[in-house]
Amino acid sequence: MASPRVLSGIQPTADSFHLGNYLGAVRQYVALQEGHDAFYCVVDLHAITVDYQPEALRRRSRIAAAQLFAVGLDPERSTVFVQSHVREHTELAWVLMCLTGMGEAGRMTQFKDKSAKYGESSAGVGLFTYPILQAADILLYGADKVPVGADQKQHLELTRDLAQRFNHRFGETFTLPEPYIVKGVEKITDLQEPTAKMSKSSSSPAGILDLLEQPGPLRKKVMRAVTDTGTEIAFDEENKPGIANLLRILSALTATPIPDLEARYAGQGYGTFKKDVAEAVVETFTPIRERTEKLLADEDELDKLLAAGAARARAVAAETMAKVRDRAGF
Ligand code: ADP
Ligand code: NA
Repeated sequence: MASPRVLSGIQPTADSFHLGNYLGAVRQYVALQEGHDAFYCVVDLHAITVDYQPEALRRRSRIAAAQLFAVGLDPERSTVFVQSHVREHTELAWVLMCLTGMGEAGRMTQFKDKSAKYGESSAGVGLFTYPILQAADILLYGADKVPVGADQKQHLELTRDLAQRFNHRFGETFTLPEPYIVKGVEKITDLQEPTAKMSKSSSSPAGILDLLEQPGPLRKKVMRAVTDTGTEIAFDEENKPGIANLLRILSALTATPIPDLEARYAGQGYGTFKKDVAEAVVETFTPIRERTEKLLADEDELDKLLAAGAARARAVAAETMAKVRDRAGF
């Protein structure tokens, strides 16, 4: 039997992935390339749903791809590609858009969050239809599992609804995907605003730990992370969201259960604890940064890897689209 299929996408909307992307998504990508037929996509067409500069987008797509290889995706085992290199994504998105209700799309909470800064009427239509393009990304590859952070749960539900609707109307075509969300790391929060998710679009860079950042600034940001005025290192999301976030981070980076960390730091101040968190971050990020820099320095090699990824992705996507066209009447 064929291995289960995995697909996930990540946006090139910044010059680096951050710790939330890494723990919530990218690290899972690497784990899932074992025993799965995995497709990972730099979703540049999603990145143009908000203001952007063409040159920055081009640079960021390459950085994103280099980072995916640098964290450990093996181009022999995983198909890593750039979304815009495979035209079927937009074609399927259109078909799915025609099956989506306005009200249904309007219920997506991420649109409400992201459009807030533009005002709902001047936000692009692309930002509104973003989840439908995402559904196309997933359904094109017949993904069984989609590794994502908690923020993507609602989009996955829409994807399943659209798959089901198409299958119902036109005949069995799409696999219904399941989100793959790892507990404990599904929502890493902002260091300065520890109840909000760490995001590429966070208001202050002090709240985000970037994979490509140097050790100095990484340490400084962790040491300055907002905590509470207490002294106890305890996992209490309600009253100590900053400490809870740092515990989650240290637990995930060192594979140590949170209760063990609470015991280890009992009676110690926040300073020692934060220093250990900072070291764990630096130790994890440094080799990834170095490998990313190496990959970016060899432009031809990266182009070759991405061309090979796109060719493999296109073969699968074209097969799905041929079925879709046939069933949908064109
Ligand atoms: P961002 O939200 O920072 O713009 P993306 O939308 O490109 O990043 O998300 C890429 C992946 O990272 C998605 O699977 C998303 O769910 C996950 N992710 C993003 N932020 C976090 C976070 N703070 N904690 C856990 N996972 C996250
Ligand atoms: Na996101």
